[in-house]
Amino acid sequence: MKNIAIFASGTGSNATKIVDHFNQHPSINVALIISNKKTAKVLDMAKSKAIPTLLINRTSFYQTENLLTDLTNHQIDFIALAGFLWLIPPYLVKAFPNKMVNIHPALLPKYGGKGMYGQHVHQAVRENNELESGITLHYVNEQYDEGSIIFQATCPVLITDSAKDIAQNVLALEHYYFPRILEGLLG
Ligand code: GRF
Repeated sequence: MKNIAIFASGTGSNATKIVDHFNQHPSINVALIISNKKTAKVLDMAKSKAIPTLLINRTSFYQTENLLTDLTNHQIDFIALAGFLWLIPPYLVKAFPNKMVNIHPALLPKYGGKGMYGQHVHQAVRENNELESGITLHYVNEQYDEGSIIFQATCPVLITDSAKDIAQNVLALEHYYFPRILEGLLG
């Protein structure tokens, strides 16, 4: 069995799709959901599905390596960042070489980096009159959104699309592809 830990800071709609996709899977299991936000909806989802959760704080995340013990205790093989907004510290990048992926709601290298998350991304895509947007799955390194790209999928951006419309179309791509690409990487 390969065990995934999902890191998420928010709603966790991607986390939910991943959990549902691997429910009853013969060789892949979502073993832990980690969040930096006590009130994150993703934690409620995890609890409702009896998936272990871990709440982390900034000091311990950046100034200790205690998290590695938790990941070992849960026998985590692979990490999926699904809407996790903190930069990953070097000790964690080193512990999961090519075993940690992030999903970004745009076509990197455009519209990535610090501050480029959520609506900021889609607003920028709208303002620049891009003809398409999409998703990028990439390995995680010490910089925001800079690890090597694994997969991209695109959707058209119509002149009439608002940033919210773009967000909706991009999220649909995330929900479809993220679990499937993970399955391919872990298979
Ligand atoms: C997604 O758009 C993801 O690409 C980004 O944060 C959003 C998370 O949404 N990194 P959700 O919490 O999975 O609903």
